[in-house]
Amino acid sequence: MSDLIEGYMGKRDDGTKSRMPAYLDRWQSITGLILGLFIIGHMFFTSSILLGKDAMYAESKLFEGSLFLEEPEPGIVALAAGIIFIIFIVHAALAMRKFPYKYREYKMLKTHSAHLGHTDTILWMVQAATGFAMFFLGSAHLWMMIAEPEKIGPYASADRIYTDNFGYLYAALIAMVILHAMVGLYRLTMKWGFTVQKNPRADRKRNKKIMWAAILFFSLLGYSALATYWKIGQEHQPNYGERYQPQSVQSTGGDS
Ligand code: HEM
Repeated sequence: MSDLIEGYMGKRDDGTKSRMPAYLDRWQSITGLILGLFIIGHMFFTSSILLGKDAMYAESKLFEGSLFLEEPEPGIVALAAGIIFIIFIVHAALAMRKFPYKYREYKMLKTHSAHLGHTDTILWMVQAATGFAMFFLGSAHLWMMIAEPEKIGPYASADRIYTDNFGYLYAALIAMVILHAMVGLYRLTMKWGFTVQKNPRADRKRNKKIMWAAILFFSLLGYSALATYWKIGQEHQPNYGERYQPQSVQSTGGDS
């Protein structure tokens, strides 16, 4: 009955408003924080290729449990990707509540933003647009990681990027995910106020500076790594599908 009253009146039967929007907002922030921190780690992981093929090989085996398993298990990576995918879907579903759906809503938002000239409102629009693009770009990548976790390594990843044309998808995804994650983390610091103390104006300015520096840093890192995979994939194209043999185990055998 109370559900019915709230459904029609927008208020609960005791006259109070539901806490559900605040609860959903909190979960949007929590899932966003997990994904934002994951992406920072992920960008360092993929850019291990800048240190050489052996470094990337060793790291990919580490994620397959090489430290505690006799035989590395790519299923661990698929499981991790599955968990990230679920968090990604929950985060997207929660964030969708705030999208302007109708033309009128969009027009109001645009006018409001132009009128205020407020950078944070513009940043919110950047987040909505990049988040929308990630529905598609992020899902394609995550599904690949779940379906073929064994195909991660210096040659396997480079073959996917160059010969299988995933490089184009990643070129777009890098820009979208870095903007989305860094703007998102900045907005979290402002929304929940945990880095804003006595002087909110100066703290906002400082946090925004860190955000732009992080966008620049991770873009350089991401695109340098992508260019390296691209080059390896180009050179490796005649041997497409062949797996990398690390220097240390070339005599005993090993692959990725
Ligand atoms: C556990 C989940 C994930 C795993 C195991 C994973 C793994 C990888 C791997 C191995 C690469 C290297 C290229 C390749 O082999 O195809 C890569 C690249 C990339 N991934 Fe992920 N990824 C995951 C989640 C995500 C998520 C959630 C995003 C963002 C929505 C993302 C964005 C990217 C981007 C932008 C690149 C290109 C990076 C570059 O070239 O610098 N990944 N990922």
